[in-house]
Parts: sequence; C-alpha cells; structure tokens
Amino acid sequence: MQSSIFKPVTLGSLTIFPNLVLSPMSGVTCSPFRRLIKELNTDSLSGESAVGLLVSEFISIEALTRNSRKSIEMMKFGSEEAPFGIQIFGYDIDRMCEAALMAVDAGADLLDINCGCPAPKVVRRGGGCELMRQPSHLQKMIHQVRKTVSIPFTIKFRSGWDENSKNALEIARIAEAEGVDGITIHGRTRSALYKGEADWDIVEHVASEVAIPVFGSGDITSRSGVIKRLYNSKISGVFIGRGAICNPLLFREILFEETHNVQRNMIRSARIVKRYSELLLEDLDPKYCVGKLKQLVCQMCKGQFWTKSFCRALSIEEQMKILQEVLDLAEDKSYTYSV
Ligand SMILES: Cc1cc2nc3c(=O)[nH]c(=O)nc-3n(C[C@H](O)[C@H](O)[C@H](O)COP(=O)(O)O)c2cc1C
Repeated sequence: MQSSIFKPVTLGSLTIFPNLVLSPMSGVTCSPFRRLIKELNTDSLSGESAVGLLVSEFISIEALTRNSRKSIEMMKFGSEEAPFGIQIFGYDIDRMCEAALMAVDAGADLLDINCGCPAPKVVRRGGGCELMRQPSHLQKMIHQVRKTVSIPFTIKFRSGWDENSKNALEIARIAEAEGVDGITIHGRTRSALYKGEADWDIVEHVASEVAIPVFGSGDITSRSGVIKRLYNSKISGVFIGRGAICNPLLFREILFEETHNVQRNMIRSARIVKRYSELLLEDLDPKYCVGKLKQLVCQMCKGQFWTKSFCRALSIEEQMKILQEVLDLAEDKSYTYSV
C-alpha cells in the first residue's frame, strides 16, 4: 500500500517526493517554521525527508511590485528548504506577471497563485477566493503568467464561493487548458471559512476529471487520514496545514509510520519549542519571536501545565526561562512528565 499512497508527483519540470506538502499559512509558515518542519521530518541517518514541498506564506503582488521590503523578505528561503514554492496573491494581471518574475528571480522551484483566501481584505480587492467568482479574469491571468514564467506553476483554490456556487471543476479545467502544472483544492467554500469538515468528494471528483495533478487540502492530522484520502484515489497528494502546527512531527509519523505523541510528551514538545526559538532568532528580532513561539506552544502544547505562563510571558527572556525550567524538570528522571 505504501507505494500507491506515497508516490512522486511531477509538476512541470519538478518532481516532488513524497506527495506530502506543508500547506501555506499566512503568519505561520515563515522560513524558521518551514526549516523547523523540514528538519524535524528528515531522517537523520538516510537524509530522507517526509516533506515533499514547502511553500511560502501568501505574498501580496501589490506590495511586491511596490518593492515592499517586508514582502521581498518573505520570498527568501534557505537551501535546506528546497524544493520551495512561492505563493502570491492579488488581482491585477500585469502586477501578477511582474511578481511571478520576482519569484523566479528569488529562486523559487515553483510558483503558486492563491485563489482561495477568504479574508475580506483580500477578496474585496479581487484577490484570493474572489478570483473563483471571476473565471474569465482568472483565465486571462493564468494565461499571461504561463507565458511569463517557465518554472512549475500551480494554483490553489477552494471548492467554490458558497454552497450554491461550487465551481472547483470549472476552475480546474481552466487551469489545465492554460497549461498550469498542478492544482490544490481546499475542500471548503469561501463562506464556510474553516468551519465544518472539508469536502474531499469534490477534490476526488475534480481529480477524476482532469489530467494534471490534483492535491487536496483540509483536516489531515494523521497517517490514517492520508490513507483514507489517497487509497484507490485519483488525488495525487495532500497539503497539511494546521495539523503540522499541532504536531510538527506529523509528516514523519505519516511517511515513516512513527508515533511520537508530541502533544502529550512534555520533553519532546519543549525541545521542539527550544529548536524553534533558535531558528527564529537566526532570522528575527527577539521581540518578533515572542508571538511566533506562543503560536506554536498554545497549539502544540495545549493542556501542558506550563503553556499558560509561557503564553503570558512578554519577552523572549521570560519565555526561555520558563522553557528551561520545563526542560530541567522533564530531564529530571524522578519526575514523570506525562500530561
Ligand atoms: C492561519 C492560516 C493561514 C493560512 N494562510 C494561507 C495562505 O497564505 N495561503 C493559502 O493558500 N492557504 C492558506 N491557508 C489555508 C491552508 O493552506 C489550508 O488550505 C487550510 O488550512 C486547510 O488545511 P488544514 O486543515 O490542513 O489546515 C491558511 C490557513 C490557516 C489556518
């Protein structure tokens, strides 16, 4: 079964393995987080990685093409992150092409256009999921971008705008006809936001109707979840988002069939937080690390006794003091640290 589920996927000139992708998450999948996930999910002996592809947070074409320093920084990535995709979002076709070329210059292995973001400030300006409501504009955009860049090019979208306008298949057909190398469908509508369960039937249906690779996204939190979605399926692979925040070892649990119980293992999760702090401090001013560490801790370490005080801490020094106490306690053999 392993070989039929976990297989290479070819996106234009790029072949990724395995077919497990870290889903782009704005405010989460910064370079330190991506490096953390890659490092934790790489076998230290063989060097095999359980993450097939890392993708940036979505980056505004309006900001990029006005040379916003912050947005240009967001395109940066380390060599250990390869293969690496840059995701951009916006409405204007000329700016989309210009930003696409900037992604090529930044060295991206793949370009992705976000057509699924539900945030009002994004859709109001015609970007994200609004592009699904404007298929002819989207078609022109994809056509121009395809003419502009030769690197692998994908788009990511939702099942539709709302229950009455599920047009994922229409968008997939446009993408295929315009030479897009692969698509990802988050099985929720824009109006569902992140509520309810993702609809994988629509992902399966689209995958059976188009010839390009189709990835699915939504609610993957375990190996059995991946098997359920990919066994006997036309879906090429899965994107994993929130599941990787709660369990940063999820990719290796899925591919290497391991169990780490990271959320319930205080020493393991505290060591992951420690490593994340080191990676963050390589890139960021300490004051910006505080919120990022809270974000990981409050999801990965939920229920552990030290989480509340850690998340109330106002400085990295305070956070590191709490973390060190936890590590000392957990390493004290007389202390049973199961939570
Ligand atoms: C905090 C957060 C930020 C997100 N940002 C992006 C983004 O920048 N680009 C994108 O395509 N999807 C984004 N998504 C959607 C995820 O990539 C993914 O499709 C969705 O969360 C469903 O997958 P999951 O259940 O594995 O998280 C975001 C989701 C979350 C929770």
